[in-house]
Amino acid sequence: MQEGPHGGLEPLQARGRQAGKGDRGGVLPAAPDAAGLGRAGGGAVVPGRHAPGAAPHADRPSGRQARHPAAVQRLRQGRAARGGLPHRAVRQVAGHRHDDRPLRAAHERGPLVPGVGPARQSPGPVDDPRRLAVSGLGQGEGMSTLPTSYEMPSSGDTPIWDLWLSIHYQPAVTVADELGIFAALNEAPASADDLARRLGLEPRATLTTLRLLAALGFLIPHEGRFQPADAARLYLLRDSPYYWGYMLGGRNPTIHERLRDVLQGKNGAPRPDPDGRPGLRRSGGSVDAWASGQIDLERARRVAAAMQSHSLPAAIALARSPAFAGVSRLLDVGGGSGCYAIALARRRPELRCTVMELPAMCEAASEYIEAGEVSDRVDTVAVDMFREPWPTGYDALFFSNVWHDWQFETCAWLARQAFDALPSGGRIFLHEMLLQDDGCGPLTAASFSMLMLLGTQGQQFTLPELRGLLEGAGFAEIEAEHTYGYYSLVSAAKP
Ligand SMILES: C[S@@+](CC[C@H](N)C(=O)[O-])C[C@H]1O[C@@H](n2cnc3c(N)ncnc32)[C@H](O)[C@@H]1O
Repeated sequence: MQEGPHGGLEPLQARGRQAGKGDRGGVLPAAPDAAGLGRAGGGAVVPGRHAPGAAPHADRPSGRQARHPAAVQRLRQGRAARGGLPHRAVRQVAGHRHDDRPLRAAHERGPLVPGVGPARQSPGPVDDPRRLAVSGLGQGEGMSTLPTSYEMPSSGDTPIWDLWLSIHYQPAVTVADELGIFAALNEAPASADDLARRLGLEPRATLTTLRLLAALGFLIPHEGRFQPADAARLYLLRDSPYYWGYMLGGRNPTIHERLRDVLQGKNGAPRPDPDGRPGLRRSGGSVDAWASGQIDLERARRVAAAMQSHSLPAAIALARSPAFAGVSRLLDVGGGSGCYAIALARRRPELRCTVMELPAMCEAASEYIEAGEVSDRVDTVAVDMFREPWPTGYDALFFSNVWHDWQFETCAWLARQAFDALPSGGRIFLHEMLLQDDGCGPLTAASFSMLMLLGTQGQQFTLPELRGLLEGAGFAEIEAEHTYGYYSLVSAAKP
């Protein structure tokens, strides 16, 4: 584990498993295609794994295609030859197959993105501080250069999201077991608030945990209350002959302990100020830097690189949305690497964008803006959004993955700030990974919410929750559309 942009609990490596449950309720748009852009009606817009009738995982390469033969060979010849790992282990890690024809065929098809191939992946000069700062895997490997491609990747990004966020599944179950959550719900189904009262747990953490357990298929949500599913009754109740707790324990102690602490009200998010601005906690995580408005350039570059990784495909897809037609000046609040502003400006020649960020983040974002060749129409403005006046003169304010870092009170404050900064007729855009209306899926979104609970002050939202926040600030004409992968765009107008 290493400290990352979502706080102190970002995995370096995770053992993935395909998520297969949790798409209950809500309106499920079609599986994301290569473009990843689909529109849905007025209900909850939650990207499901696949629409009824669609081939599951139709957007995914097969397991074999996904494994690159050159990587297999590098692993075998490189690490094993250096004595790092026995050949048998390397074969397992690399997913060696005797019949590697599909692998070769995929390899021969060439690069997935024009301009991104082996030559560009080779390490550049090691004395470039930017390269060192964004070293990806935290182990001296995986140096990356600033990407310059804003072309749609040929395959969706849900498998990598599923992998990343699978890290919370087992700790959610083992902590629930340890704290007696399954037993208590088996005695009497309860809402998150009731259960929190009964067991002396923190309510927000309880809700996030119950939603993830439901998305995993261990709880059944019904009219706001949760009860154990058969899988939990059979395998997670201690008096069951099929109890699994002895096998599950201790697999991921760091996340287990952190979640147990947060559920028990220790070291969770600090209460926001009475006006809604975030409280400060000195844990050393990025969210404290954001809440205090202080971030140094090294961390800013790390955050920008991480945000670029998880946002670039969604940004490219989002830029195609007709929702931005007619917008001429857009302020990207908390824009991170700037990839949304860059992708939008590249797609829409009539549009000028400004990335509003903390000063060091502006510096980091400028490097991406330059690499994206849109410096003539995308700029930055250094503003601490919690302490300084917001600029005006924009007809749209865009927030991607910003509200999910903060508690509801802080989001209500952000909504009021946005309302005040916009002219009448101006639009607000929120780009977030939405939970379905009951909060209990999709599984990866429920696990993203757990990441926010443990590493930031926030959580993922349902559409009704975002609607409530927007209407509370005075916004109207609330619309939502699925954009890409698990993401949706919610927009509203200032009357
Ligand atoms: C989770 S990142 C999202 C980045 C980007 N919008 C994206 O989706 O890739 C949240 C961003 O909010 C910015 N932010 C946090 N606190 C801020 C503050 N006080 N003032 C301005 N920006 C802030 C952070 O620097 C960070 O880049």
